[in-house]
Amino acid sequence: MRFFTTVVVSLTAVYGASAKNVFVQVGGNTTSNATMVFQPAQIIAAPNDIVVFNFTQGNHTVTQAAFGSPCQPIHDTNVTVNGFNSGFRDTVNGTAVTILSVPITPDLQNQTIWFFDFNTCGQGGVGGINIDDNSTATLDGFIRNAVRLNGTDAQQPNSTASSSISTASHAPSPTTSPSGDNNNAAEHRAILGTLSVIPLIVAAIAL
Ligand SMILES: *[C@@H]1O[C@H](CO)[C@@H](O)[C@H](O)[C@H]1NC(C)=O
Ligand SMILES: *[C@@H]1O[C@H](CO)[C@@H](O)[C@H](O)[C@H]1NC(C)=O
Ligand SMILES: *[C@@H]1O[C@H](CO)[C@@H](O)[C@H](O)[C@H]1NC(C)=O
Ligand SMILES: *[C@@H]1O[C@H](CO)[C@@H](O)[C@H](O)[C@H]1NC(C)=O
Ligand SMILES: *[C@@H]1O[C@H](CO)[C@@H](O)[C@H](O)[C@H]1NC(C)=O
Ligand SMILES: *[C@@H]1O[C@H](CO)[C@@H](O)[C@H](O)[C@H]1NC(C)=O
Ligand SMILES: *[C@@H]1O[C@H](CO)[C@@H](O)[C@H](O)[C@H]1NC(C)=O
Ligand SMILES: *[C@@H]1O[C@H](CO)[C@@H](O)[C@H](O)[C@H]1NC(C)=O
Ligand SMILES: *[C@@H]1O[C@H](CO)[C@@H](O)[C@H](O)[C@H]1NC(C)=O
Ligand SMILES: *[C@@H]1O[C@H](CO)[C@@H](O)[C@H](O)[C@H]1NC(C)=O
Repeated sequence: MRFFTTVVVSLTAVYGASAKNVFVQVGGNTTSNATMVFQPAQIIAAPNDIVVFNFTQGNHTVTQAAFGSPCQPIHDTNVTVNGFNSGFRDTVNGTAVTILSVPITPDLQNQTIWFFDFNTCGQGGVGGINIDDNSTATLDGFIRNAVRLNGTDAQQPNSTASSSISTASHAPSPTTSPSGDNNNAAEHRAILGTLSVIPLIVAAIAL
């Protein structure tokens, strides 16, 4: 009994009493308003929580970005950050629902994590985790950046024939992605985190 208590206490110490999954639905009805793609678009997550993006409708990505470059994978604008990138997840109208898990490791405390959907970014299909309400970097500002830089009125580079072709050529795909090595890193960390809890729980039950 004494050992059981010790195990539970150490579990709590390592993982936090309230570590939890925070769900985000990817695939709100974007027909008339692309900002509906992530619900909620503003997420609050504590250290050791896992943000779980649940792709329920349509064909979208969740891809980490920097505040100043909302519609580009963060690694393309800041090589020191790998970032997460789901690649396109086509739900086939809700019959192929998948998730992407993004663990909020303790070093990410106090940091805002911005992200976007490749297919709706220019219309405001973006979101953020742990947005600092006292900062000038707000969700509304991030949406404005996305529309300004990638919306229909945005200046496209002359070298590309059209914005849609540009999007496709830069877009991640489920099989090949420029940042493919990074795509699964978050999922792997989440799985490892979960697996490392199991032996402790089993040990506790065995007693
Ligand atoms: C999405 O919204 C549009 C109008 O805003 C509506 O016509 C359409 O039926 C909706 N689609 C779904 C799947 O709810
Ligand atoms: C789109 O939805 C957001 C909430 O996600 C809302 O704040 C905004 O006013 C809507 N825009 C339009 C044009 O309906
Ligand atoms: C994702 O959402 C779908 C549809 O709402 C639901 O059936 C499924 O259980 C969810 N997945 C997870 C991991 O929560
Ligand atoms: C998802 O969207 C991307 C970019 O628009 C496109 O290249 C891809 O073919 C789409 N996937 C499906 C299954 O339609
Ligand atoms: C790149 O990301 C690192 C880590 O978040 C940050 O310290 C650095 O300021 C970023 N660089 C630029 C140019 O934004
Ligand atoms: C999904 O639903 C949309 C709208 O109802 C339809 O146009 C499309 O063909 C459907 N796609 C598939 C793969 O069933
Ligand atoms: C986050 O901010 C709090 C309050 O300023 C501080 O105590 C904590 O050490 C910070 N965490 C990290 C990882 O920087
Ligand atoms: C947004 O525009 C930038 C610069 O033209 C481009 O590199 C990026 O691929 C675009 N993003 C999307 C999602 O289309
Ligand atoms: C934001 O500012 C308010 C008032 O100045 C303060 O009470 C609050 O703790 C601050 N929030 C953060 C996240 O720093
Ligand atoms: C694009 O083409 C226009 C007209 O040919 C030119 O004025 C402009 O400088 C070009 N922009 C870039 C980024 O090359």
